[in-house]
Amino acid sequence: TRRVRTRDLLAAKERGERWPMLTAYDQYTAAIFDQAGIPVLLVGDSAANNVFGHETTLPVTVDEMLSLVRAVVRATRTTLVVADLPFGSYEEGPTQALRTAVRFMKEGGCHAVKLEGGRRCAPQIEAITGAGIPVMAHVGFTPQREHTIGGYRVQGRGEAAEEVLADARAVAEAGAFAVVLEMVPGEVAKRVTGALTIPTVGIGAGPETDAQVLVWQDMAGLRGGKAPRFVKRYADLAGVLTDATRRFADEVRGGEFPAAEHTF
Ligand code: KIV
Ligand code: NA
Repeated sequence: TRRVRTRDLLAAKERGERWPMLTAYDQYTAAIFDQAGIPVLLVGDSAANNVFGHETTLPVTVDEMLSLVRAVVRATRTTLVVADLPFGSYEEGPTQALRTAVRFMKEGGCHAVKLEGGRRCAPQIEAITGAGIPVMAHVGFTPQREHTIGGYRVQGRGEAAEEVLADARAVAEAGAFAVVLEMVPGEVAKRVTGALTIPTVGIGAGPETDAQVLVWQDMAGLRGGKAPRFVKRYADLAGVLTDATRRFADEVRGGEFPAAEHTF
C-alpha cells in the first residue's frame, strides 16, 4: 500500500466515488483513522479550539501546527496529510504564503496545505501550487474571518450563492486540487460540485459534495455540549472516558487498584 495522492482524489470524482476526511492532531488517533481507511486527514487549525482550548482558530501558530503535523505524518502510512496554514501566515501575499507552505512541507512533512479564501487568495494558491505544493482551498464560511463575518453563519444564501460559486471557480482556476465548502446551503454545494472538476469537500454543505469532513472529536463525541447541526456523533467518547476515569479514581480510592497482577 502507498500513500493516497491528489490525483487519486481527482480520479475518484471522475468515477463518482465519495470519500471521507477527518481532522487529526496526534499519533494514536491518526493511526486509527489511517487504518480505518480514511484517505485524507487534515491537521486543521481547529487545533486552536480542539487541542489548545482557544475560543477561535486565530491564535494557533505555525510552530504549534508543525508539531501536530509531524505527529500525524509519522503515525500514518496511507493517508494524504493536509495541513492548515494558520491565520496570519499567508494573508500578506504570495511570497509569505509560499514561504509558510514550504515550511510545512519541509519541517512538517505533510503532503499538501490548506488555506481559507476564494478569489482573494488566488495569487497565494498560484504561488504555492507553482512551487509543486498541492493546495486545498476553503470557501463559504471561513472561521479565520469570523470577526468580520459576525460568527458562525451559513454563507451563500440567496444571491450570495454566486459569490460562493465565483470563489470556488477561482481557487480551481488557480490550481487547487480540492476545495472545502463550509456551511453553505445544500443546493449551492450541489451546484458548485457540478461546476468543478476538482473534488468538493463538504462540512455543513449537505449530501451532494464529493467528500465530507468532520472534526474528529465531533464525529466521535469527545466534545461535550451542543454540537452544530451539521455534526453527527458516531460514538460517545466523552461518556466512555468519563466512565473509565471515574472507575479508575474509585478503585484507587478504594485500594482495589493496583492488584497483585499489576505489582512487581
Ligand atoms: O480546521 C478544520 O478543522 C477545518 C475543517 C473543518 C475543514 O478547516
Ligand atoms: Na481550518
